[in-house]
Amino acid sequence: MAATSKSEKYAEARKAVERLHSQAGSADEFMKSIARVLNDNMLKYNWVGFYMLEAGANPPVLVLGHYRGAMTPHTRISLHQGICGAAASSGKTVVVDDVSKDSRYLACSLETKSEIVVPIFVHGTVVGELDIDSHFPAAFGAEDRELIEYCAQLVGKRLESAPVTTT
Ligand code: SME
Repeated sequence: MAATSKSEKYAEARKAVERLHSQAGSADEFMKSIARVLNDNMLKYNWVGFYMLEAGANPPVLVLGHYRGAMTPHTRISLHQGICGAAASSGKTVVVDDVSKDSRYLACSLETKSEIVVPIFVHGTVVGELDIDSHFPAAFGAEDRELIEYCAQLVGKRLESAPVTTT
C-alpha cells in the first residue's frame, strides 16, 4: 500500500472532521470526537484537548474538557496563566515551537516540546480553546494551524447552534 503523503494526511483529517460535523450530536460529543480523530490520525499531536471558560466564573477560568493523551495536572487555568491563558485572553492562536523557551508555559508532560492553542469563538466571543501538545519541536506549521483553526471554527458553529448545558 502506498504511504500517505503529508498533505494527504491533512486532507484526510479535515474530511474526517467534516464528516463528524455533518453528523447529528451535541457540541460536547463533537469535541470529544475531534480530540479522538486528531490524536489518532496526526502522529505529532500527542495531547489534544479542550479548555472551556466556566460559565459565570469571576474571575474567568478555563476548565479542562474532553482530551486525549496523558493526564494533565492543569485542570483549571486562569487567563493570566500559561499559553492557554494567553490564547484565551488575546483571542489569538498561539504557537510555541519550543516550550522550554517560553516563560508562560505550564508543563503538562516532560515530553512536550511544542504547543498550539487556538481560541474558540461563539458569536464573536471567546468561549474556550483547542490545545495541542507535541513531543516534537516546532510541530505546528501553517497546515497544522489551518487544520486546527478549522476544527475550532466548526466547534464554535456547533456551540452556536447547540450550546453545551452546564450543570
Ligand atoms: N501547556 C499549557 C497547559 C495545558 S497542558 O499543556 C495540557 C499552558 O501552558 O497553558
